[in-house]
Amino acid sequence: MRFILPVGLIATTLAIAPVRFDREKVLRVKLQDEKQANIIKDLAQTNQLDFWYPDAAHHVAANMTIDFRVSEKESQSIQSSLDQNKMHYEILIHDLQEEIEKQFDVKEDIPGRHSYAKYNNWDKIVAWTEKMVHKHPEMVSRIKIGTTVEDNPLYVLKIGKRDERRKAIFMDCGIHAREWISPAFCQWFVYQAAKTYGKNKIMTKLLDRMNFYVLPVFNVDGYIWSWTQNRMWRKNRSKNQNSNCIGTDLNRNFNASWNSFPNTKDPCAETYRGPEPESEKETKAVTDFIRSHLKSIKAYITFHSYSQMLLFPYGYTSKLPPNYKDLAKVAKIGTDVLSTRYETRYIYGPIASTIYPTSGSSLDWAYNLGIKHTFAFELRDKGKFCFLLPESQIKPTCKETLLAVKFIAKYILKHTS
Ligand SMILES: *[C@@H]1O[C@H](CO)[C@@H](O)[C@H](O)[C@H]1NC(C)=O
Ligand SMILES: *[C@@H]1O[C@H](CO)[C@@H](O)[C@H](O)[C@H]1NC(C)=O
Ligand SMILES: *[C@@H]1O[C@H](CO)[C@@H](O)[C@H](O)[C@H]1NC(C)=O
Ligand SMILES: [Zn+2]
Repeated sequence: MRFILPVGLIATTLAIAPVRFDREKVLRVKLQDEKQANIIKDLAQTNQLDFWYPDAAHHVAANMTIDFRVSEKESQSIQSSLDQNKMHYEILIHDLQEEIEKQFDVKEDIPGRHSYAKYNNWDKIVAWTEKMVHKHPEMVSRIKIGTTVEDNPLYVLKIGKRDERRKAIFMDCGIHAREWISPAFCQWFVYQAAKTYGKNKIMTKLLDRMNFYVLPVFNVDGYIWSWTQNRMWRKNRSKNQNSNCIGTDLNRNFNASWNSFPNTKDPCAETYRGPEPESEKETKAVTDFIRSHLKSIKAYITFHSYSQMLLFPYGYTSKLPPNYKDLAKVAKIGTDVLSTRYETRYIYGPIASTIYPTSGSSLDWAYNLGIKHTFAFELRDKGKFCFLLPESQIKPTCKETLLAVKFIAKYILKHTS
């Protein structure tokens, strides 16, 4: 089975065949100590390890659990090194190409049809934004906040009545291209908000008093690339000076202690921060929009996958934010509420201590700008399917996440001025 592409895409991307991942593996290693962490760092020097969780080799440290993708050829020598050093590991995915094709098989449905139970490509998402505005003209409007490097539009959907002075929450999905469940959630949120207004008590109360700005796909070029060329793409698609490596990690490109982690300087790293803060058109469009709506925006929520966590500031320092107690309380109740639906367990805490220290994230940037409630969701799962979360889990993931987001919004309505 090859990737099934709509005819239009075949025409424009004929030059390059999609990257294949035949018999590539995803391994999970539980590091016991510093020595084992160093073994992994050494292996990463001489092998092409694509770190899925955490997302970069330089974050590897004692007592961490790490997931990484490796080619069939290299996996043999890596597994024997792990065995020799008596390190515990598990093979999460045996043949990545096979897993990818399972998802693309499911996609042989009516071409062009948007579905909340499936992953939708960029063309379908654009058509869907139009449909939402058309169907709910009093409730949903579409704002073009900029364009990407490859000249695709960046659309924010505004949900709520037409009053700029009300409180608002800004949400974005799809900063990282391969995290497909994230844009799926933003679409679900808009759909549910518009559909249940006037029917669901909480949603009605929220939309009577506040607005939501939803950016369903932040990294549009990267998202398209993950559909047409490389399912495992993470960064944007910009060309980097003096390097053959392509792309900046948009979630390291925000102006929050941007300069403090030297290991995000390498253009070939999956976490490359870009030549300067907000160098990327996408980052600039979002930061300009948020700055110009700062009076109303009371919360910022960003959606990633995977690992089932609800994170808040800071990433770039282990110091706790001034309203730590408040954020921890919201995160605790939010994750409790989320688990009521399917008993999905999330952990929560500041980025730095819950995963690892990171600079240039959108979360810290928004917090430092004065938005005192900023959260990042790492959606399902915890490492069975990783970025290839089956379509059968889209709706359950969206439904449980919606409960947590509604709780956060209710809290913001009540507790912010
Ligand atoms: C790792 O865990 C061990 C045992 O729980 C503990 O003694 C050690 O201090 C931990 N190391 C780090 C760097 O956290
Ligand atoms: C991606 O990031 C680079 C920074 O290295 C930026 O210059 C560019 O505008 C971005 N490209 C795309 C396609 O988003
Ligand atoms: C980033 O923040 C620093 C310090 O707050 C400021 O001096 C600088 O102008 C900012 N850069 C951009 C691109 O906004
Ligand atoms: Zn991510």
